[in-house]
Amino acid sequence: MKKYIVIGNPIEHSLSPLIHNHWIKKYKLKDSIYEKKQVEKKDLKNIIDQIKNDEIRGANITVPFKQEIIPLLDKIDRVAKVTYSVNTLYKVGKEVWGYNTDSKGFNESLIDINYKNKNIFILGAGGVTASVIYNFINTTNKIYVSNRTKKKAENLKKLYSFNDTQIEVLEWGEKPKVCDIVINTTSVGLRKDENFNFDFDEYKKNNNALFYDVIYNPKETNFLKNAKLRGNKTINGKMMFLSQAQTSFQIWTGITAEIDDEVIKLLD
Ligand code: ATR
Repeated sequence: MKKYIVIGNPIEHSLSPLIHNHWIKKYKLKDSIYEKKQVEKKDLKNIIDQIKNDEIRGANITVPFKQEIIPLLDKIDRVAKVTYSVNTLYKVGKEVWGYNTDSKGFNESLIDINYKNKNIFILGAGGVTASVIYNFINTTNKIYVSNRTKKKAENLKKLYSFNDTQIEVLEWGEKPKVCDIVINTTSVGLRKDENFNFDFDEYKKNNNALFYDVIYNPKETNFLKNAKLRGNKTINGKMMFLSQAQTSFQIWTGITAEIDDEVIKLLD
């Protein structure tokens, strides 16, 4: 049996098994299965050992272990090095390697968006934020980052010290002048009743402003609902999620799985 796994804590909400098992069936990968497993930090070493001895063939890592897994790995890819975030594991030779496919996933979700030389406002400094910022370094104008815990935003900025004039850390609640793209990378909105205290009223004047929420479940957070009401454009995290899954699947199987209507509908 070829076993794939997503580990995190909590993990119940993860829709990765739904997507990967769909592709496993579609591409007729015999004796393969993708499961989710809630683990504690102390279990991470055991997961790596299971990959080393071929009990697990590939793994996804989600919150809160995307950083904590790194010291246990033999090698990490270039994006994982910059973002200090790993979401995919695979055995290469006798080693376990870590990859960051979140960043590429985010990039592919922006395919129809012109973000060159634009101003970006990012809310949050959690597990996925560095992967989002990666795509904007050297391409956009200013990147404003604001997080409830300011220190974490400052640490994020340090990851990009090779270009630290582009990133400006703001106090939580402080807003830059109207930006072209506003991105929620916090977990606020995962529960349907949650919302920010931010007043984005001035964005009414800018119908071209895009509000992007990396959350895909629920489909429309209050952050996006309010943006729509103001007349702004919106995107949720669905395509980012599917694209990161596609790259993980590719690393493990060599197959470029199709992101078609059928798989998109699985998330509805
Ligand atoms: P982690 O921070 O452990 O990596 P995460 O789920 O990847 O976990 O990130 C959660 C993000 O949502 C963080 O930016 C967090 O802000 P803090 O760093 O201050 O904790 C943010 N977040 C969670 N709940 C929030 C709330 N009620 N208001 C504002 N930001 C919140």
